[in-house]
Amino acid sequence: MELQEQQQAVFMPRIGDNAPEFTAKTTQGDINFPSDYTGQWTILFSHPADFTPVCTSEFMTFAVMHEDFKKANCELIGLSIDGLYSHIAWLRTIKEKIEYKGMKDVEVNFPLIEDISMNVAKKYGMIQPGESTTQAVRAVFFIDPKGIIRTILYYPLSTGRNFKEIYRTLIALQTSDEFNVATPADWEPGDDVIISPAGSCGVAKERMDDTEELDCKDWFFCTKKLDKDLVLDTLIKK
Ligand code: BEZ
Repeated sequence: MELQEQQQAVFMPRIGDNAPEFTAKTTQGDINFPSDYTGQWTILFSHPADFTPVCTSEFMTFAVMHEDFKKANCELIGLSIDGLYSHIAWLRTIKEKIEYKGMKDVEVNFPLIEDISMNVAKKYGMIQPGESTTQAVRAVFFIDPKGIIRTILYYPLSTGRNFKEIYRTLIALQTSDEFNVATPADWEPGDDVIISPAGSCGVAKERMDDTEELDCKDWFFCTKKLDKDLVLDTLIKK
């Protein structure tokens, strides 16, 4: 591989960057990313190859959860370094033949990008040569309604992703934006949230004194209640 090609192959977008732009053919028609998705969240994810077992289990799981993501104003977009006809044949096989963990007759209705040229995969650091030079790793990009990358997850070829964690992360990001709070370890809607750190000695004292709304373990670690129904009613379409 030429040096320039190698550098391109390992280019890694970062949290806070604008999502790299691209146009692509997908199983749901052509897309212009991210402009076609302005105003909604997207989860852009890659998988190593069509017609492989871990990827099949992942696609079935994501497809079953697709409605939940849509209700949270989020569209899913898959990608692998395969052609459109391979994608179509694989998705037909999943629907017609594969039964797994109680899931069957599963239709994948979100777009799956053909990326034989690796154009998109290279822009998103999905080719990680130490793992494979011909297959994308299992990358997950959370992109917000303004087209900014907000979270990135990478998994190796051998390890299927946890889709409940992907959904939890989306809701946590939206909760932080909507309510101006941070979310602690393992947070789920209904759990207490963390308020931004005190920026002065005065605020630190006020916080320690406010025992009604806040629960301060110490001046730098204050939580407050955030009602589960308020979070869900705000973020999830009925
Ligand atoms: C799979 O999805 O099963 C898989 C794909 C590439 C390498 C290993 C496993």
